[in-house]
Amino acid sequence: MLSIDALHVTYGGAVQAVRGVTMEVPDGKVVAVLGSNGAGKTTLLRTISGTLRLHRGKVDAGTVRFDGTDLVGRDAAQAVRLGLVQVPEGRRIFGRLTVEENLRAGGMGNKDKTAKAKAQDRVYDMFPVLKERSSQRGALLSGGEQQMLAIGRALMASPKLLLLDEPSLGLAPRIIGQIGEVIAEINRQGTSVLLVEQNATMALGVADLAYVLDVGEVSLSGDAQELAQTDEVQRLYLGHDGGDAGEQRVRVASGKKLSRWTA
Ligand SMILES: Nc1ncnc2c1ncn2[C@@H]1O[C@H](COP(=O)(O)OP(=O)(O)OP(=O)(O)O)[C@@H](O)[C@H]1O
Ligand SMILES: [Mg+2]
Repeated sequence: MLSIDALHVTYGGAVQAVRGVTMEVPDGKVVAVLGSNGAGKTTLLRTISGTLRLHRGKVDAGTVRFDGTDLVGRDAAQAVRLGLVQVPEGRRIFGRLTVEENLRAGGMGNKDKTAKAKAQDRVYDMFPVLKERSSQRGALLSGGEQQMLAIGRALMASPKLLLLDEPSLGLAPRIIGQIGEVIAEINRQGTSVLLVEQNATMALGVADLAYVLDVGEVSLSGDAQELAQTDEVQRLYLGHDGGDAGEQRVRVASGKKLSRWTA
């Protein structure tokens, strides 16, 4: 279980990106973190995955523990060895390497050849399209396939907790639905997931628990289904304004447009 308590993170000693966040990811669960641009979602993942220092960030106060081990001050290689693997925002795959080479790069820290072969079979089972295109360069894949490859590459390190940073970014609704199904399947196979998203529909659909971050602080948290029903989440993240008046306005507006077109 991942346990974050009263965490404060700054960049360059000035920008306070995370301000007193307390959060838990219980074993075997999918936990979503929602929040608008600059809320501190990526910073939170960087703190867990040991990549914060690469971005000149620093933990000023608070604790981050994974299965009892203190994560503050550890680097990315140590975090991966503990079972924490991050898929960064913007699916940064190696475009000039083949799909298979990308996957092998993800399993590099793993010395156990049998375990590596098993992880690769699991990835190819989950993403048949990656198997079909195993000898093609990563750059030739579609955006959705590149996201699958980025997730597949992370799975090659056999994570206990997979950290996903906005996997739906820039993808078509149908593909976002597939990403949601993939996350659910990864979780069914025993991996816990911390899912950072701006797409609340997908994230709350797949998550057990959710947190809303607002300028570095947790503004709401709880059961994902219950959170989806709250006014704040409906209004800010699910695009409903909570009243009939809004629907009425939309109907009137589209009605007008229609009459113009049919005139
Ligand atoms: N390397 C950095 N140096 C300085 N400030 C940074 C750095 N990275 C992020 N920040 C700042 O920290 C705050 C939180 O940023 P963060 O990237 O964690 O937000 P986010 O929720 O992931 O946003 P987005 O949805 O846009 O990805 C923002 O004010 C941002 O400008
Ligand atoms: Mg981000």
